[in-house]
Amino acid sequence: MGNDIERAGKLILASEYVVGLTGAGISVESGIRPFRGPGGLWTEHGEPPMDGYQRFQADPKKHWEEIIKRSGVTSDFVQALESARPHPAHYALAELEELGLLKYLITQNIDNLHLAAGSKKVAEIHGNVQKLRCVACNARYERDEISLETLPPRCPRCDGIIKSDTVMFGEPIPLDVLRTCQQETRKADCMLAVGTSAFVYPAAAFPQEVKSKGGALIEFDLYETALTPLCDVSIRGKAGETLPQLVDYIKAIR
Ligand code: APR
Repeated sequence: MGNDIERAGKLILASEYVVGLTGAGISVESGIRPFRGPGGLWTEHGEPPMDGYQRFQADPKKHWEEIIKRSGVTSDFVQALESARPHPAHYALAELEELGLLKYLITQNIDNLHLAAGSKKVAEIHGNVQKLRCVACNARYERDEISLETLPPRCPRCDGIIKSDTVMFGEPIPLDVLRTCQQETRKADCMLAVGTSAFVYPAAAFPQEVKSKGGALIEFDLYETALTPLCDVSIRGKAGETLPQLVDYIKAIR
């Protein structure tokens, strides 16, 4: 691994515009299960139905009543989300940003852990579990800003229907965050993919795009993924161990 960490560090220092892409794997050591692979939520329970958003649109009041009642598979996941804290991998990426080496971070995670670790330039492509969003004007609110006395709750700005900021299966990615991800990917000459199976689009397309225009691709994952064949360096191990090693190495040679 030493040599791969060194190669990754040198690639990052030789790059102009490094962008990160993280997935569920980076938060496993914070107690949140991944979706696929060993111990994955979908591995155990099967992938959820793809029409979640259509069912929400059909009856948003019922959707909210179910959320408030919340039981079964989702309740453990939600509890894990609520009690999770950032770990060394999240702090390592925040430090790379602070060092001016990581220009932007795209995350598929809804757990707020990158922001909690101090990362500033973060695009949450699947939303944030701590926030609510208006489906009409896209305004986002902290949960305590919106009363759940009447369901479905309404947007104080446009009276549109409010839902969790998290993107449901079947729901289009909000345009503002999608545009940011596309713009940052376009600028990138190096992408760090951490803890993602690179299975779900549009996020899975970003590293491919960086590679196809001649950029470098560095992966951190426990196992091989769909991205591994495209990578310049693919580092095996827990993100909580490999990313701090990378930052230590970079600081030592810089
Ligand atoms: N350190 C590094 N990588 C890890 C670790 C760890 N400690 N634990 C697991 N991994 C890796 C797995 O090997 C796998 O490649 O993290 C990856 C997790 O993949 P997925 O569970 O598929 O998560 P992700 O890629 O984020 O899924 C994308 O799918 O279900 C939807 O909306 C959900 O955002 C999610 C999207």
